[in-house]
Amino acid sequence: MPPMEHAMPIWTFIAVLALSQTCFARYTKFPEGFTFGVATAAHQIEGAWNVSGKSENVWDRLSHSRPEMIADGTNGDIACDSYNRYLEDVAELAYLGVDFYRFSLSWARILPSGRVDLINPDGIRYYNALLDALEEKNIEPLVTLFHWDLPQSLQDLGGWANPKMIDYFRDYADVCFREFGNRIKSWITFNEPYEICEDAYGDEKKAPAINSHGVGNYLCSDTLLKAHAEAYHLYNETYRPMQNGKIMISINSIWYEPQDPENAEQVALAEVANQFKFGWFANPIFTADGGYPTVMVENVARQSQAEGLPKPRLEQFDSYWIQRIKGTSDFLGINHYTTHLITGAGVDYSAQSPSWLKDIGAITSMEVGGDSASEWLRVVPTGFGNFLRWCKSTYNNPAIYITENGFSDFGTLQDYGRIQYFNDYLTEILNVIYDDGVNVLGYTAWTLMDNFEWRAGFSERFGFYYVDITEPDRPRTPKLSVEYFRQLTANRELPQDDRFKDPSKTRIEL
Ligand code: NOJ
Repeated sequence: MPPMEHAMPIWTFIAVLALSQTCFARYTKFPEGFTFGVATAAHQIEGAWNVSGKSENVWDRLSHSRPEMIADGTNGDIACDSYNRYLEDVAELAYLGVDFYRFSLSWARILPSGRVDLINPDGIRYYNALLDALEEKNIEPLVTLFHWDLPQSLQDLGGWANPKMIDYFRDYADVCFREFGNRIKSWITFNEPYEICEDAYGDEKKAPAINSHGVGNYLCSDTLLKAHAEAYHLYNETYRPMQNGKIMISINSIWYEPQDPENAEQVALAEVANQFKFGWFANPIFTADGGYPTVMVENVARQSQAEGLPKPRLEQFDSYWIQRIKGTSDFLGINHYTTHLITGAGVDYSAQSPSWLKDIGAITSMEVGGDSASEWLRVVPTGFGNFLRWCKSTYNNPAIYITENGFSDFGTLQDYGRIQYFNDYLTEILNVIYDDGVNVLGYTAWTLMDNFEWRAGFSERFGFYYVDITEPDRPRTPKLSVEYFRQLTANRELPQDDRFKDPSKTRIEL
C-alpha cells in the first residue's frame, strides 16, 4: 500500500476521534448555588373542593357541569387529597432532596367570595400548616398566587375579561403577602398567562372555556398584565422592605422553530410565532421598550382591518401602563416542555375566525421529537437550548428560573421516558449555562405526583409518584425517576448510573 493511502485513514481516524470527543463532551456538574425543586398546583392536588369554607372555582364548575369536557370524566374533588395528606407530600419532597417546593394557593380557599370581605381562617390555617412542615424539612416555598383556579364568583363578573379584576387580584395578593410573607420569600404572580388568556378565554381548552377567540384572549391579557404589575408594585413598595423576598411571573412557551432553517420565510414566521406566544407576556415586562411586541400589534391591526372592524381587537397599552408594567419581575420564570415547527405562511385553524392563530398567520406542525402521553408534548431537547439562547438575546440576559419542565406517560413505574427527558433537557441547561452564558439559576420539575391534568384528567401522568385514584386514601408509589432526581439533587450533577438506562434502548447517555 502506498504510504499516502496508509496515512489517510490514520488522520481520518484522529479527526473523527477529535470530533466525537467534541460531540460527546458534556457538562454534568451544576454551578455552585444552582437550585432544584418540584412543582404542583392547588387545584391539581388538594381536593377538599367544598370543605372548610372553600368556595367553587372555575375548574369545579367546568368539571361538574360539563364532565364530558374532561377526558376521563375525573375532577379535582379529591385529586391527590393533599388537603389531608400534605405531610405525605412533604415527606416525598424531603426524600427527593429538593431545595424548594413550588405550590400554589387556592384563591377560593382563602377568600371564598373572591373578594376580601371574608378571609377563611381554615384556608389560612391549611397553608400555615404546610409552611410549617416545609420549614421543618428545610424546604423553601416558591408560591404561585394564581394557577388557573379563579373563584367562580369572580368569573360570574367576567373573570379576566373584567378590568375590575386588577383590584381583586391586588387585594388577594395583599392578603397573601400579609398572612404568609414573613415565611414565603419567593412569589410567582401568574402561572402561564398564555394558557389563561388564550386557552381559557380565546378557546375552550381550559376553564372557564369562554371561547371568545380573537377577542376575549386580548381582553384577558390587558387585565392580567396590569394585575400582575399592581401586585408587583404592592409587594415592592409595601412588603419587600420588611419581608425581603422576590417576585416574578412564570411565562410558558411552546418554542417554534422553522422546519427548514434555510427557508427565510419560515425563519421569519417562527420569530413572529414566538413573539405571539412568549413575547405576548414577556415583551411588556422584560424589554426596554415595553408594551406588546410590535409585530403582534401590527398583525392584529391588519387582520382586524381586513375583518372590517373599526378598531384593532388588540389594544396596545398607553404610556402610563407601559411604564407601570415594565420591569415588574425579579426573574424570568419559564415553563417549558416542547418545540413545534413552522412550515409556512397561512392558517390551519379555519373554524376559528378571528383568532390568535389566524393573527399569527403561520402554519404549525408537531412533526418533530419523540412522543409523550400528551398530544402537544414532543420531546425536543435541542429546542430548549435554542429557546434559552433566544431569551438571553431577546430580553437582555435576564436571570432565569425554569419554573416547570416535565414529561407525561400513562403511568408506568419504570419511567425511563421521563428520566431520559429530564436528563436531555437538563443537559441543554448545562450547555447554555457553560457555552452561552445564559443565566439559569434554578430548575423545577413538573410534578411531585400524578395529578389532575386539567382537561386530560388523570389520563396523562407527569408525576414522580404514581397516584392510585381508585383508592380512597390515594396511595402514592415512587417511580424510578424518584431515584434519578434524588441522585441529581444529592450530587448536583447528572446521574451516571446504569439503573436509569432503559434496557430496551441504547440511546441514553447517562
Ligand atoms: C403547565 C401547567 O402549569 C401545569 O398545571 C400542567 O399540569 C403542566 N403544564 C403539564 O401540562
